[in-house]
Amino acid sequence: MALFSANKPAPALDRSLRRLPQHVGIIMDGNGRWAQKRGLPRSAGHTVGAQNFKKITRYCASIGIRYLTVYAFSTENWKRSEEEVGALMRLFQQYLEESLRDFLDEDIKVRFIGDTTAFSPRLQKLIEETREVCKNRTGMVLNIAMNYGGRAEIVHAVQQLCEKVQRGELAPNEVTEQQIADHLYTAGQPDPDLIIRPSGEMRVSNFLLWQSAYTEYVVSDILWPDFTPEDLEKALDDYCLRHRRFGGVEESR
Ligand code: FPP
Repeated sequence: MALFSANKPAPALDRSLRRLPQHVGIIMDGNGRWAQKRGLPRSAGHTVGAQNFKKITRYCASIGIRYLTVYAFSTENWKRSEEEVGALMRLFQQYLEESLRDFLDEDIKVRFIGDTTAFSPRLQKLIEETREVCKNRTGMVLNIAMNYGGRAEIVHAVQQLCEKVQRGELAPNEVTEQQIADHLYTAGQPDPDLIIRPSGEMRVSNFLLWQSAYTEYVVSDILWPDFTPEDLEKALDDYCLRHRRFGGVEESR
């Protein structure tokens, strides 16, 4: 996987001529370090990170990104302190309540990827209401990855396929890459073209493992709460300079 830094100055590019990625993923990393640097509790970093999530989401919709997937809570994040997990749950709840109350005319189609049955009944109810409110929207699809893990997602898909085989609906040799893709949480959506990881970590962290087989990665040193629309633009510029070959020889863009 080619890792590239969004911190290097990108060559001048006419942004109006750029080919935008259809699907962008963001690992919203660095909230804890942002807070620690300021002598604040980690939860303060998540609060500012959540505000930034709203800003960057609206920005992506405004420039014509069709799919945005953000990593909000991984299957491994339950290992954090009760206080930090509680603060994140309150932020998710606040965001959904606010969206349902204030942004009913917004055209962003919010979806959830991950096992949401692990959340409190209140949060699950908000997730259901959000799904319902958004179901006929036609604007940018926003996938919020909550209690999400790429490996768990693949296991879930394989279990569903095994059940189909057991019921005689599918022969083992009919299990194809397409069948697996069709049983992921992102079924029917294009694979991410670009994944952005702020905060400088060069790790995939169990995010969209199946879907990112040919995704371009951009890593930026900026911590997520400080990541601006201009930083996003730089990542898009970097992406535009990539030569995507999908394992072949001809450039395919
Ligand atoms: C990783 O940074 C970030 C998270 C585990 C949480 C991300 C969540 C948000 C930005 C809030 C999103 C809110 C909504 C409403 C979707 P880290 O805490 O691991 O940072 P560190 O690596 O500096 O410790």
